[in-house]
Amino acid sequence: MKTTIAEAGKHTNQTVTIGAWLANKRSSGKIAFLQLRDGTGFIQGVVVKAEVSEKTFRLAKELPQESSMYVTGTITVDDRSPTGYELAVQEIDVIQEANDYPITPKEHGTEFLMDHRHLWLRSKKQHAIMKIRNEIIRSTYEFFNNNGFVKVDPPILTGSSAEGTTNLFHTKYFDEDAYLSQSGQLYMEAAAMALNKVFSFGPTFRAEKSKTRRHLIEFWMIEPEMAFMDHEESLELQENYVSYVVQSVLSNCKLELTALERDISVLENIKAPFPRITYDDAITFLQKEGYEIDWGEDFGAPHETAIAESYNKPVFITNYPKDIKAFYMKPHPERDDVVLCADLIAPEGYGEIIGGSQRIDDEELLKQRYDEHQLSYDAYQWYLDLRKYGTVPHSGFGLGLERTVAWICGIEHVRETIPFPRLLNRLYP
Ligand code: 4AD
Ligand code: MG
Repeated sequence: MKTTIAEAGKHTNQTVTIGAWLANKRSSGKIAFLQLRDGTGFIQGVVVKAEVSEKTFRLAKELPQESSMYVTGTITVDDRSPTGYELAVQEIDVIQEANDYPITPKEHGTEFLMDHRHLWLRSKKQHAIMKIRNEIIRSTYEFFNNNGFVKVDPPILTGSSAEGTTNLFHTKYFDEDAYLSQSGQLYMEAAAMALNKVFSFGPTFRAEKSKTRRHLIEFWMIEPEMAFMDHEESLELQENYVSYVVQSVLSNCKLELTALERDISVLENIKAPFPRITYDDAITFLQKEGYEIDWGEDFGAPHETAIAESYNKPVFITNYPKDIKAFYMKPHPERDDVVLCADLIAPEGYGEIIGGSQRIDDEELLKQRYDEHQLSYDAYQWYLDLRKYGTVPHSGFGLGLERTVAWICGIEHVRETIPFPRLLNRLYP
């Protein structure tokens, strides 16, 4: 019977056939241990010389790493194995012998691994990261579907910018100029006026010349937008959403978190509500800690890390100065120098994972912002229309998937959180 490693537990003491690759092996004169992987998981195959044909034992000893094969054997319970099972191998049917696989179990440098990303993805650690990324996406859809949201897909090719013009990717659209989407937000606002609560999940692009462990050129964003919801209600939704995702990963990705040696106890604590600190108080705190930062300046990575270190949960920094935030953010009702926005800063130095705000819903104020930011009325007329025909209070936010994956997995750099990262100096593979 054909099965997979993930399904092994359903077939204990049965003879099965699994299509697999050889991840690693070791052997002595009488026994060989094969580390087999099939993409669904990893299992150890035990080949005992006295119990198999001469050919099978020779293959078990000599097959090179990443050779592909069908392995037939009996699934046995084994308490020492992380998955709880082993395969007592009876026969190996080789599909291809793979010679000179470049990624050996020894250590390689990052550039070498990045050049071989198409193969590096097969390793146990990268496999675990991709499975956790998938669980974050799966639980995101589950959370928003359970809460009455409709998934809407904004365009990737756009005629205008959503988050300022400094890092836009330009391309030609026949005779017109076009840009790759920096954020689907403006379109999601239109969708919220049609469908009430909506969310998007898609690629976004920023031609950022920054080479940090938190920046990608192409990254994926989850962007919910809610009609009739104010800033405070949006923060509650955000903390419930992030808690849901973390708890889903804890429940459904135990093997993967173990493979990554992730400290589970810090994740177990991630439950709503999350602490909130105003931008004003954050500046005062940083100044007391000895940082040279003045009111009105944006936070850099060291500032965010210093603030996050005071908490063992993600923390919302609220009400930033209007001048360092996007044109569409609604001013604070009691002071017009700050806006109704929040960034959610992850613990353990992972930085901003969410940026969100209540949006301006007044047509005249939005026009004033168009003038201040020199936005073209031609390109943005449709966005003004949303304030002209039945405007309502509304809020939304964007969660950066890769930074969230990095934090939950506890890995250093976002380049390992996406299958094929696009970085300042990398378009290959
Ligand atoms: O804070 P940002 O720029 O917000 C927006 O784009 C809003 N329009 C979202 C909205 O309200 N619908 O980006 C949102 C998140 C950040 O918090 C961060 O997690 C991630 O996107 N992000 C990046 N991730 C990786 N690489 C980059 N270059 C990123 N830039 C932003
Ligand atoms: Mg931001």
